[in-house]
Amino acid sequence: MKISEIHAYEIYDSRGIPTIACELFLESGEHVASAVPSGASVGKFEALELRDGGDRLNGKGVKKAIDTIYQKIAPQFIGREIEALIMDQELIALDDSAQKKKLGANAMLAVSMALFRGHALSLGLELYDFMARSLDYDEMTMPVPMINVFNGGRHATNKLSVQEYLLIPYGARSFAQAMEISVEIFYELKKLLEQAGKNTCTGDEGGFAPVFNNSIEPLEFLARAIQRAGYDSSTVGIGMDVAASEFYDEKCGEYLFDGKRLKAHELIVWYIEQCHKFPIISLEDPLAQEDWLFWVELKKLLGSEVKIVGDDLLVTSATRINHAIELDAANAAIIKPNQVGTVSEAIQAVLLCQEHGWTTIASHRSGETPDTFMADFALGVRANYVKFGGCSHGERLAKYNRLLQIEFFKSTLMR
Ligand code: PGA
Ligand code: ZN
Repeated sequence: MKISEIHAYEIYDSRGIPTIACELFLESGEHVASAVPSGASVGKFEALELRDGGDRLNGKGVKKAIDTIYQKIAPQFIGREIEALIMDQELIALDDSAQKKKLGANAMLAVSMALFRGHALSLGLELYDFMARSLDYDEMTMPVPMINVFNGGRHATNKLSVQEYLLIPYGARSFAQAMEISVEIFYELKKLLEQAGKNTCTGDEGGFAPVFNNSIEPLEFLARAIQRAGYDSSTVGIGMDVAASEFYDEKCGEYLFDGKRLKAHELIVWYIEQCHKFPIISLEDPLAQEDWLFWVELKKLLGSEVKIVGDDLLVTSATRINHAIELDAANAAIIKPNQVGTVSEAIQAVLLCQEHGWTTIASHRSGETPDTFMADFALGVRANYVKFGGCSHGERLAKYNRLLQIEFFKSTLMR
């Protein structure tokens, strides 16, 4: 089926920051849409977004990126038979710069997502099914959600050093049960916060964002909520996205954590202590994005029990993932297509992880839209986990709910 039109326009994400919506029309008259997310704790090595600068919308406008779509990208594809994988390669060739500086990762990803959706539609397939078939995956397994319960770091104003605390219902038998467990714990957590006189407003990713005295207090609240909801560590684990690059002082190589200056090895001791006290099964960005040697150290010390997850460290880049594999610096990767700029490159990153027995976590960004692309992506590429935010905020639940919809109609079992 041929592509007849590609359109793009400015919309606003969950923080009110401009982003791109793209609509691709097929010659049949049918059309698909995509919307691009955007991060706040952006890794230094991520592909770059093209933003307008200047006074309008604090310089965050995306009109230049939209012009790029109309002038440089769309003319290459209109009138041609839709072929997502091939066209994605052409997109990559159009911008061969290291960080997608020429076209902008936001412009490229808007089109890339629409190409995958459009190709699936032209074959009469659901997006996840199209992606799975293109990888020759015939059996589908539902991912386990990592549910954000507390927001700190750049996603809230509570001065909490750790960016995210996550509950991980890995013992659930289905995605529906995993969500039920998570929501029950979320309710308990709200009651506990109210009883403690803490604020129950939520942060950017839909987790609670009260003021805490230190980074251990949220772990205590979460452990209590899990127990009060009637669950234990046989079913529910805890994760943290520390986003340590955000509080790393590059000049002296120290971490400004909980009001103290810590050396990397002192931070590692803190992690080991918390892993002994709490059922922690996942530590994301526990160290800064260039602190490779200490990543290797932490992996050696905790890697057999805990997922050592690279986000800012790896930025969904095959080159950086390969480097981490060689050094044995982690055992899991966050996958965010907008960190690399195309869906194909994100798929390549997943395949590389799978080849080396690494865990993959398909992830949203803190600035999101109701687009559910990542839910289908996770299922299609067989990601082990999904991290789509908390049990509040429509743009987060849209993605969890999409997986509930697919599971309902497919009735597949979790691994
Ligand atoms: P970001 O945060 O989207 O603001 O980068 C998400 C994460 O660090 O996982
Ligand atoms: Zn992260």
